[in-house]
Amino acid sequence: MDTKNNSAAAGVEPEQVPKKALYTGDKIPVVGLGTFGSDRYSGGQVAAAVKDAVASGYRHIDCASVYGNEHLIGPVLKEAVKNGVKRSELWITSKLWNDKHAEKDVLPACKSSLRDLQLEHLDLYLIHWPFPNSHAKGVSVSSRDPRAKPYIHENYMRTWRQLEKLVDLGLVRNIGTSNMTVPKLKLLLRDSRIKPACAEMELHPHFQQEELFNFTVEQGIVPIGYSPIGSPKRPERDRTPEDTVDIEDPVIVKIAGRLKVHPAVVCIKWGVQRGGVVIPFSVNREKYMSNLKAVLSGALTKEEMKELSKLDKNCRLVKGQVFLWKEGQTWEDLWDLNGKISPP
Ligand SMILES: NC(=O)c1ccc[n+]([C@@H]2O[C@H](COP(=O)([O-])OP(=O)(O)OC[C@H]3O[C@@H](n4cnc5c(N)ncnc54)[C@H](OP(=O)(O)O)[C@@H]3O)[C@@H](O)[C@H]2O)c1
Repeated sequence: MDTKNNSAAAGVEPEQVPKKALYTGDKIPVVGLGTFGSDRYSGGQVAAAVKDAVASGYRHIDCASVYGNEHLIGPVLKEAVKNGVKRSELWITSKLWNDKHAEKDVLPACKSSLRDLQLEHLDLYLIHWPFPNSHAKGVSVSSRDPRAKPYIHENYMRTWRQLEKLVDLGLVRNIGTSNMTVPKLKLLLRDSRIKPACAEMELHPHFQQEELFNFTVEQGIVPIGYSPIGSPKRPERDRTPEDTVDIEDPVIVKIAGRLKVHPAVVCIKWGVQRGGVVIPFSVNREKYMSNLKAVLSGALTKEEMKELSKLDKNCRLVKGQVFLWKEGQTWEDLWDLNGKISPP
């Protein structure tokens, strides 16, 4: 059977997909395709999904150099543009990895992503983590960078000034943050020349980050929610016994039953109806198309939105343990839980 004629997986017209305006005037499609294949999917599989997703209506792709597949996604984007997709319709995000925070490394890192993605500019460039700490791919969560450092605001600002320069150079249209907290964002807003247009953060019904979400919206920064389905296929090493499963939540399952959709689709609808942008991942056509279509039909009712707002379990899945900088810390130290930046 030709899956493109199967209604669940049929393509959509990209202009039907709503967009959110950034303070810079640019508009970002509210659903993007994640590209972190982790250790489950090869770069080739992810690139093939990007190719088909763009042919089927996706215009927003969330990339990062650390995902190790930008060089495979680039040819796919180039071909799409050659085949008639306007570059101005595409929204391509990339991210500066933690080992490239030094002032001298930012421009080369951005140029390397541009080269790999075969683009002249990025629509959004994010600092992937506010810590300059790195680790090898696939290591256990107990692994540490021997040169790890805490968040040092002056150093973050040195990196940020380089991102501002990338905007001046026309290599990047918008800049933003990822994995930040309210106290860190307050300092960045105080000291930046070009304020962040977007803030990427973990967001799903069991981890709503209401304070951070509301803060970014109040500041005119668009929140982009990663792991919007609750990352149900993340590797074993990234799970802890306390983690909960959004797509098994009885309220989400009940609403999915009413709409006759997978619970994942309810998570996507909630993330967008709440006012955010979402970047779900899948290489499975039926799944990534139902995620895109989630925003085209069957809105959640006011009562359902209210029920969903009460599901928060403060269940952070991407805890970031590998970025800790000294002995005896717990992952909570990365997230400024008492409203203050954790001391060095
Ligand atoms: N900035 C950051 O630090 C950061 C951190 C994490 C993630 N991200 C970004 O966010 C993206 C998404 O995050 P994620 O992969 O952790 O979590 P996610 O999107 O919440 O979950 C992805 C998983 O959900 C399943 N799924 C997707 N759509 C589905 C559907 N319609 N029905 C049923 N199952 C569905 C997929 O299963 P199958 O595999 O079986 O298809 C997939 O493996 C990443 O790819 C990356 O681009 C950014």
